[in-house]
Amino acid sequence: MQYRKMGKWGVKLSAIGLGSYLTIGYKIDDKTSRNTIRTAYDGGINFFDTADAYNKGEAEKVLGKYLAEYDRDSLFILTKCWLNITGHVNGGGLSAKHIFEACHASLKRLKTDYIDLYMCHRPDPDTPIEETVRALEDLARQGKIIYWGVSEWPAHHIVRANRIAREIGARPIGISEPRYNLLYRYPERNLFPTTEAEGIGNVVFSSLAHGMLTGKYKPGEQAPADTRAADDDTSTVIKKLYWTEEDKKKALELVRIASDMGVTAAQLAIAWCLKNPAVTSVITGATRVSQVEDNLKAVEITIPDDVSEKLDELYPPPETVECEH
Ligand SMILES: NC(=O)c1ccc[n+]([C@@H]2O[C@H](COP(=O)([O-])OP(=O)(O)OC[C@H]3O[C@@H](n4cnc5c(N)ncnc54)[C@H](OP(=O)(O)O)[C@@H]3O)[C@@H](O)[C@H]2O)c1
Repeated sequence: MQYRKMGKWGVKLSAIGLGSYLTIGYKIDDKTSRNTIRTAYDGGINFFDTADAYNKGEAEKVLGKYLAEYDRDSLFILTKCWLNITGHVNGGGLSAKHIFEACHASLKRLKTDYIDLYMCHRPDPDTPIEETVRALEDLARQGKIIYWGVSEWPAHHIVRANRIAREIGARPIGISEPRYNLLYRYPERNLFPTTEAEGIGNVVFSSLAHGMLTGKYKPGEQAPADTRAADDDTSTVIKKLYWTEEDKKKALELVRIASDMGVTAAQLAIAWCLKNPAVTSVITGATRVSQVEDNLKAVEITIPDDVSEKLDELYPPPETVECEH
């Protein structure tokens, strides 16, 4: 395993992380959850990503139960707040009240005394950034969280939050968590230059485009059984964002390029993300142990320049700064 500094900060995260969206505490049973976590940990993963929103707290509960089997100081646990999972009027967003209450609920579910990095899952246009920044600094000073971060925040929001943090003597952002993969390269345009300038790390999600970049979805065919796209409960995002005949055909070409290198398409897609110096870690998701084992090997891959060029041709960088759909 490689360990990378979180932007300018002193802490180091494994270059591969394990996430828990649609898997741990939801679609995979307890035994598989424990085994995937164990395989990840034994493979050198110290960074585990979750959110209160993932199956309304169930992902945190199961992750917390099995992470309790390891030394706390060997782990870096990231969780998030923002989505309203209780339905109460103040049960979501980034107000000081919600951040305070959501953090305590996550600590209980995770069965831990502190969260390594607490993340604002999305921006909240109804709350002044200063209120959010102060609330996170207060939690840090109370010993409940160590660092804080943001997911899918636009670059200008990040710059503003950090400016406010500096003005009020609060700690600035440690991590940004964007979607990033061969089919979605927008962070290269605006976000990564900003986070690099601010000393912020990036832990990126959906590096396999929900499985599309593994090549398991074939043109003209139904999704194979036991895959995310075949399940009505988990297929919404992949069907909305990536389910085109063109994406399936491109994935077959990705498989061909990868097999010429003696690796799997999943490994190449993850290694491609890791090649970008703005990326601290790739958060992987897995429904079985064999996927964790496959994905862990991505850290061993060095992508030669001619392969990078082929990937740029197959998956060109975007011409616009932001995604237009
Ligand atoms: N901050 C945010 O808003 C946000 C959003 C999304 C995700 N995340 C985090 O990022 C993590 C990863 O996101 P993601 O699930 O979208 O990632 P992804 O890597 O694009 O998709 C993961 C899914 O792909 C399939 N897969 C994984 N490895 C494979 C392999 N080697 N071969 C074949 N299939 C493989 C599995 O699904 P099947 O086996 O079911 O096909 C797995 O559940 C999440 O768990 C979560 O912690 C954060």
